[in-house]
Parts: sequence; structure tokens; C-alpha cells
Amino acid sequence: MNKQVSIYELVLQLWGFIGPRRRWQLMAMVVLTVLSSFAEIFSIGAVIPFLSALTNPTKILENSSFQSLLTLLKITNSQELILGLTIIFGISVVLAGVLRLMMLWGNAKLSFYIGAELSSEIYRKCLYQPYIQQINRNSSDVIATILSKVDAVIFGVISPLQTLLSSIVILAAILVALLFISPLISLSIFSIVSGVYLTISLLMRAQLNLNGNRVSKESGSIAKSLQESLGGIRDILIDGTQEIYCESFRRAAFALRRAQGGSFFIGQSPRLIMEMLGMIAIAIVAYEMARDSSGLLGAVPILGALALAAQRLLPAFQQIYSSWASLRSSSAHLSDILLLLNLNFSASNQAIPQSPIPFEKYIKLKNVGFRYTCDSKPTLEKLNLIVNKGERVGVIGSTGGGKSTFLDLLMGLLHPTEGSIYIDDQELCDLNCASWQMRIAHVPQAIYLADTSIAQNIAFGIPTEEVDIQLVRLAANRAQISEEIESWADGYNTRVGERGVRLSGGQRQRIGIARAFYKKSDVIIFDEATSALDQKTEELIMDAINGLANQSTIFMVAHRLSTLKDCDKIIEISNGKIIRTMSYSEVAK
Ligand SMILES: Nc1ncnc2c1ncn2[C@@H]1O[C@H](COP(=O)(O)OP(=O)(O)O)[C@@H](O)[C@H]1O
Ligand SMILES: [Mg+2]
Repeated sequence: MNKQVSIYELVLQLWGFIGPRRRWQLMAMVVLTVLSSFAEIFSIGAVIPFLSALTNPTKILENSSFQSLLTLLKITNSQELILGLTIIFGISVVLAGVLRLMMLWGNAKLSFYIGAELSSEIYRKCLYQPYIQQINRNSSDVIATILSKVDAVIFGVISPLQTLLSSIVILAAILVALLFISPLISLSIFSIVSGVYLTISLLMRAQLNLNGNRVSKESGSIAKSLQESLGGIRDILIDGTQEIYCESFRRAAFALRRAQGGSFFIGQSPRLIMEMLGMIAIAIVAYEMARDSSGLLGAVPILGALALAAQRLLPAFQQIYSSWASLRSSSAHLSDILLLLNLNFSASNQAIPQSPIPFEKYIKLKNVGFRYTCDSKPTLEKLNLIVNKGERVGVIGSTGGGKSTFLDLLMGLLHPTEGSIYIDDQELCDLNCASWQMRIAHVPQAIYLADTSIAQNIAFGIPTEEVDIQLVRLAANRAQISEEIESWADGYNTRVGERGVRLSGGQRQRIGIARAFYKKSDVIIFDEATSALDQKTEELIMDAINGLANQSTIFMVAHRLSTLKDCDKIIEISNGKIIRTMSYSEVAK
């Protein structure tokens, strides 16, 4: 996190991610705020005539400048005057109240909509990042950001910002109204109150920043420890290491909540101090005025206006201060979410390919090299290879030799850092890799299963109503798992459990293979896809693969050589290089 960036710059950056519609709505809120502040001035201004009428109605009835208005309203005695004034006062209070309600409603609605839009945008940006970025990022950071940090930004930045703006406008309005009533008293109240708040702000600034950073850091580590522990629950149960995880969770949770509680207290406590000071000030003013010749009765209207102002002024001050405090303590969160929002995705990444890339002749690798990071040593070097369409290629080699990386390059998930890959004569690049991937089915060693039905896991990523159940059965049959599935009570509707926990390794692999068969792809890539199967099942699946239409180009990494006996050629990758290309009979020798 970059600590040099001020909260103002962060807010400006955030503004850039708010859509035009929300911006207009925010502007509308500003207009509402100004209206509301007029209502505020009016309701404070109305107190004086109201209270002076209450205390001395004849003064108004006899005042010549009010005569025409009074005759117009048919007011003749003091009873009617008081009634009329009460009604006007009541209306102005209701109007101000309604406007405030509308503002609260608008503020809440806007904040949460903006929050929903931001989190969707972050999720989208993350999903569209290239594979190389995905493997270098910690997924719990993303989860924490989307789940809790966006929340924190709604409550800690967006909503307070609106409150801050509207409170400043309303404060200014109240101040203007008060200046008309009693400039000296108002100015002194204003400067005392703002002085106290400013002092508190300056004193608390550093602590709020500290708390904010702590909250941001600990909410990340909480998400991480949850994800790691629940992901590795078997090992935790076996090793009995629950306490270690509980302890580290506890530590993070306490640090997080302590910091949150601290910021909460810093934000709220000045109100109590100010209320205390305010009451004392009113008492002093009342005392001073009561000593005046006109007596306490003459002081009532001004006192009333001041009390009302205090009732409005202090909350406005408090809201400005607490919004500011919350902005400060949320700036770390804001910069975390901006980090993800600022991820750029190239437009090409986002575009849904219209049609698959032409593939009639061959896949060609020319001097392909790859490194995971610029300063690491190359994982793959100088790969040269031509694979004709329809060929079956076996890949062997020691673990860590680079076989999976080679397949990731072939699939366009990773891009060569040297040399190029050609599909027919088109070079594979950012722009066309999605249309190349339309042709590919990939069966990894560890199949990812979603917690839905078997049928949906075979027809993966396809909306339920579009799943072709006939094709699902056929694919399952070829993958040698249909008999098992059909023996279960729910058949193809059986749920697989989170990440497939209710299935054995071999069942999972066969579902992955069925998934590839369902896709009817031109290119199928098996990466140790049959390692968890017994030799007999594997042979049956190999037969099914061999029975596929001849156009399918197949790459197959396997440890058991016999798996590859039907391959047209076998390449051996060792230490990042293709060291041999041969036929099965040559290897078997
Ligand atoms: N995400 C990654 N970041 C950095 N290095 C990696 C990454 N994935 C794999 N490697 C390295 O690349 C090498 C080849 O790995 P891999 O292609 O998985 O080999 P194989 O599939 O042949 O066992 C290994 O040395 C491994 O440490
Ligand atoms: Mg591998």
C-alpha cells in the first residue's frame, strides 16, 4: 500500500470508477442538500417570530408593518395569531424533516448501489486477468476485498463523503441564519465549537490512520487463515493443528476489532464533550440575558433560536467530524480496492470470440521459451515442434521438467516469453488466444468440481436448461463412469459436494474426462488425467479416446508409458527442453 497518496487523491480516483448515472444521482443529492439547508434556515428563522408572538402577541398585532398581512389572513386577535404562527412553524419543521428524510434515503440507496457496482467491477476485473496474473496473486486478498473491504468503503467512505458534503452545506446555512439573529453570540459559539473539533481532529489523525491500516491488514489475514484452514481441513484434523489456526485467527480478530472499536470511539466521543459544553454555554447566555433590562422574557426568543441552532449546529459539526474520521480510518481500505479496480484489462481479454481460430493444418512451436518471472531462470527453452492436426502426442519427462507449463503455453493460458506458437500460420497472441481456446478441452490432474449436480459438472459452465442430457450420458459412458452414476439414487442429479469431496479421486478424474468428451473439442489436452485410475479403467478410457473422430488432436502427459501406446509421437521434456521426439516403439525399447 502506498501511504503517500492522500485521502483526497484516493477519493478522486474512486470518482473515476463511479458510473455516469450514479454521478448524476450524486449531483441530485447536492441539490437536495441545498434545498434542505434553505428549509433549515427557515425553520430556525421562524423560531423568533413564533416565540416573540407567544410571549407578546399584542406587539405584533399593533405593529403597523404587519397590518396588511394580518387583514389578508383575517387574523384579528392574539389567539388566531398564535394558531397561525404555530401552523407555519409546524409546516416549516415538517418540510425540513421531510427533506432530511429524503436525503437519508438517497444517501443510503446511493451508497449501497455504488458498493454493489464497485464489487462487481472488482470481481470482473479479477476474472478477466490473464492466467500469469492469476497464479501470482493471493486469492484470499481478492475475496477479502470483495467481501469486506467494499463494505468498509461503503460505510467508511461513500456514505460519510455524502454526509460530509451535506453537513458542510447545512452548517453554512445554519451559521448564516444564526448570524442574522445574533452575530456576536453565533460567531463565538461557532469558533469555540470548530476550535474544539479541529483540535480533536489534529490529535486523532495519526491514530485513525494507524487503526485504518491495521483493520485493512487484519481483515486480509482473517480471510487468508479461513481459506487456508478450511481448504486443508483433512491435514488439520489429522495433525491436530486446530489450535494453531484458532489462535492465529483469534489474534487477527482481536487486533481487527480493537482497531475498529478505537476508531469508532474516536469518531463518536466528541459529541458528548460538545453537548456538555453546549449546555454550559446556553446557561451562561441565559444568565447574561436575564441580567439585561428587558428581563428573561425578552431573552426567550433568542435563547430558543440558539437552542434550536445548537440542536442542529452541533450534530452538523459532529457529522462533519465523524465523517472525516471515518474517511481517514478507511483510506487504507480504499487504496486496497483501488488497487484491484485499477487493474487494467485489455479490451481483447474481454471480447467474446465470435468464431474459433482456423485450424486445418498444424500447431507449430518455433524457438519457444518461457520464464514465470523476468528474473527467474527459464522454465522452458528453445522448444521446436510441429504437431499436425489429428495427431496424438504423448509427453513424458521427470516431474518439474516443464510439461504442465508446456501445455499451458499450448493452450494460450501463458504466452511465450521468447519465440512464438503458430496455429496454421497465425501466430498465437493476446488477441486470438480466446478463439483458439474455443477449440480446446483440458483435463488436468486435479479436476475442479463445482458443488452442483454430476450432470452440470460434466456439462461444465453451461446453464442448466441448456444441458444436453443425452450428450452427458454419452460422455459419461465413454469416460467409464456412467454405470456408477446410474447406480446412485439421484443418478445424474447427484450433488458432488464442495470441490467434489463426496467423490473418489478416480471418479473425479473420470468426470473431468467426461467433461472433455462433452465439449467435443478439436484439441484435447490430458495432463496426468488418468493417474488416479487403475490400469484397466485407464485402458478403457484410452479406447474411448482412440474411438474419437480422427480430427481430434490430442496431447497427453502420462507417467505410465503404456498409456501412450497409441500416440503417433512421444516427446520427452526434461529441464525445460525437448530432449527426444520418438515413436512409441522406440520408447518402449
Ligand atoms: N506459478 C509458477 N511460478 C513459478 N514457477 C513455477 C510456477 N509453476 C511451475 N513453476 C516451475 O516450473 C517448473 C516446471 O513446472 P511444471 O510445468 O509444473 O512441471 P511438470 O508438469 O513437468 O511437473 C518447475 O520447476 C516449477 O517449480
Ligand atoms: Mg505437471
